Amino acid sequence: MLKEFEKHCQSTHLSPICAKLIELSAQAFGVNNGNIPKWEDAIIAIESQQPGNVSFKHPYVSIDTIINTDELMQSLKKLMPWRKGPYQIGNLNLDSEWRGDMKWDRLKGHIKSLEGRTVLDVGSGNGYFTYLMAMQGASIALGVEPFLLFNYQFQAIRTLMDNPPNAFVLPLKLEQMPIESSFDTVFSMGVLYHQKDHMLHLQQLKDIMQDEGELILETLIIDQVHGEQIIPEDRYARMRNVWCLPSTDTLHAWLQKIGFKNIKLVDVTKTTPEEQRATHWIGDNTQSIKDFLDPNNSNLTIEGLPAPKRAIFVCQK
Ligand SMILES: C[S@@+](CC[C@H](N)C(=O)[O-])C[C@H]1O[C@@H](n2cnc3c(N)ncnc32)[C@H](O)[C@@H]1O
Repeated sequence: MLKEFEKHCQSTHLSPICAKLIELSAQAFGVNNGNIPKWEDAIIAIESQQPGNVSFKHPYVSIDTIINTDELMQSLKKLMPWRKGPYQIGNLNLDSEWRGDMKWDRLKGHIKSLEGRTVLDVGSGNGYFTYLMAMQGASIALGVEPFLLFNYQFQAIRTLMDNPPNAFVLPLKLEQMPIESSFDTVFSMGVLYHQKDHMLHLQQLKDIMQDEGELILETLIIDQVHGEQIIPEDRYARMRNVWCLPSTDTLHAWLQKIGFKNIKLVDVTKTTPEEQRATHWIGDNTQSIKDFLDPNNSNLTIEGLPAPKRAIFVCQK
């Protein structure tokens, strides 16, 4: 995987930083994680399946192939939970917890064409969106995702593709990106609220962008009636590590303060059980959004805070 990345990276605008990215990724893959043998076995088993052409067949990133369904299902289940997707491989529908297509549909009409651009997908998960970005003609779509399992999921899907698009996921954090990086389009989706220091995250996004580059920022927000921002004392919708829930005005002001321009709020959508659902691909803990909301009032989380709503901002460096 790193070899394929290296080969392609050298032919893109990222060539000055390929070596550093590979060095950092090799270190991350080299950690002592007891699950790695199981994940590697799954990839080896998947290599014996017939790869096929990939396309977007709404809502699926879909691979047209003939597979041994039982064997592939067994291998993919070793890589659970599948949070992001959905994918279709031959006659197998990998229905992930999230319907990623719904987020993509909300933003795709508001962003500059990705044709020929150098694109970064921060917190890419298993690369569902990274694949879509590459399939839009990006010269490279690079996902960075520190959680190793999601890197193996990405690899599993890529192994099933003949002529995969220019999409790669590396086990890195945004803050590890070399400062000489220069991306034309940067996506940070579902990541800001996980950051202890939200202003630092926004600054780091700006630092690795080309002048006039485009940022697509998607994060949890609250309605203005609840104030400028909420800092959850403990969990939020049962999630740990949720640090900030700004109003859209507050988020606009944060982006402005960092120096972004042409800041546009392009979408606000409440998260529904259609978009986040429990499926048999998420493993034993089958809780999903309906279990995180107040059973008597779906406008509140189980902790009594406003129910999840997400905003998408598009702006320029
Ligand atoms: C809620 S998921 C969002 C996934 C996907 N971007 C989406 O919109 O559906 C957030 C992801 O960001 C990753 N993440 C958290 N902090 C990060 C950081 N500093 N740099 C890169 N990824 C990060 C997490 O591991 C997690 O997989």
